[in-house]
Amino acid sequence: MKKALITGISGQDGSYLSEYLLELGYEVHGIVRRSSVSENQDSRLKHLSGKIHTHYGDMMDLPSLTRIITDVQPDEIYNLAAMSHVRVSFDVPAFTIQTNGIGVLNLLEVYRMFAPNAKFYQASSSEMFGNSVDSDGTQRMTTPMNPVSPYGCAKLLAYNLVRHYRNAYNLHACNGILFNHESPRRGSNFVTNKVVKTAVEIKKGLKNKLELGNMDSSRDWGHSKDYVRAMHMIINHDQPDEFIVATGQTHTVRDLCEYVFNKLGMDYKDFVVQNPIYMRPEELKYLRGDSSKAREVLGWEPEYDFESLMDDMIDYWMKKL
Ligand code: GDD
Repeated sequence: MKKALITGISGQDGSYLSEYLLELGYEVHGIVRRSSVSENQDSRLKHLSGKIHTHYGDMMDLPSLTRIITDVQPDEIYNLAAMSHVRVSFDVPAFTIQTNGIGVLNLLEVYRMFAPNAKFYQASSSEMFGNSVDSDGTQRMTTPMNPVSPYGCAKLLAYNLVRHYRNAYNLHACNGILFNHESPRRGSNFVTNKVVKTAVEIKKGLKNKLELGNMDSSRDWGHSKDYVRAMHMIINHDQPDEFIVATGQTHTVRDLCEYVFNKLGMDYKDFVVQNPIYMRPEELKYLRGDSSKAREVLGWEPEYDFESLMDDMIDYWMKKL
């Protein structure tokens, strides 16, 4: 039985990846941070209780990382732990660089010293591209990386560290450059789930407006379930490498509102107002990823498109609220 260790197991991707690896017969271990509201630690993992093993730890706490990796001796390490909110990274830039950058260095050092035969996956991000776009309106492996947020800068540091550790110490360490990926389990302060949840609340008479920031930015949105399958394919490819995971379709935040409100029989223009507190000091305006390498080399294909992703989220909130 293969053993996987997932940092950030309590997040959206951590919970879907756990389910996927359990189905494949893995023993699944995960690292969780202590939270003052204990429900926040495992709200996405309750249904997996008794099936997975969780350990308290923190990316900034080297003793905890050393203890867990030494005890578990994983075959595969998935580093999904991060301060994942781009706008919040402007408010807590040092914490973001520490956790998403230096934290990865900590984990790589422990990996190199205590489990060098394991395979390592780093959750890299399309936010690393910043506002670089090729002339055909796409980001690909050769597109320059010029991040425009503390989050993106930290992710780029971690991306380069993973490549460096692979080359310097002959480790099976890889990067998945994942474009935005969503699901009903997405935090409701990310734009997709905020729009869907609030639109359903408006439909049910629980709210009367939706406050948003920049509605002109475009994102390449896929489903987290498809993207955790890609993580497993990337880490298990013969050669450790870098892969972009994206749908190749892009929509603006305005398109998102239009689709979701229409689906619920409403016009978004009647309910959406702009609030500057949701604007960012510097905005990444446009993302559309070229994932042809992942499709050709790994055989990865997404099952969800933009519409079926949004429908899945709408169905969830219609039943839940
Ligand atoms: N969160 C949020 N809230 N975003 C808003 C809002 C709002 O009220 N109004 C407009 N937006 C715009 C943001 O300015 C951004 O252009 C876009 O919606 C998407 O924002 P998020 O959903 O917060 O995601 P993100 O693109 O900043 O970051 C996500 O994707 C990255 C991959 O590119 C996160 O999942 C990152 O962790 C991930 O690395």
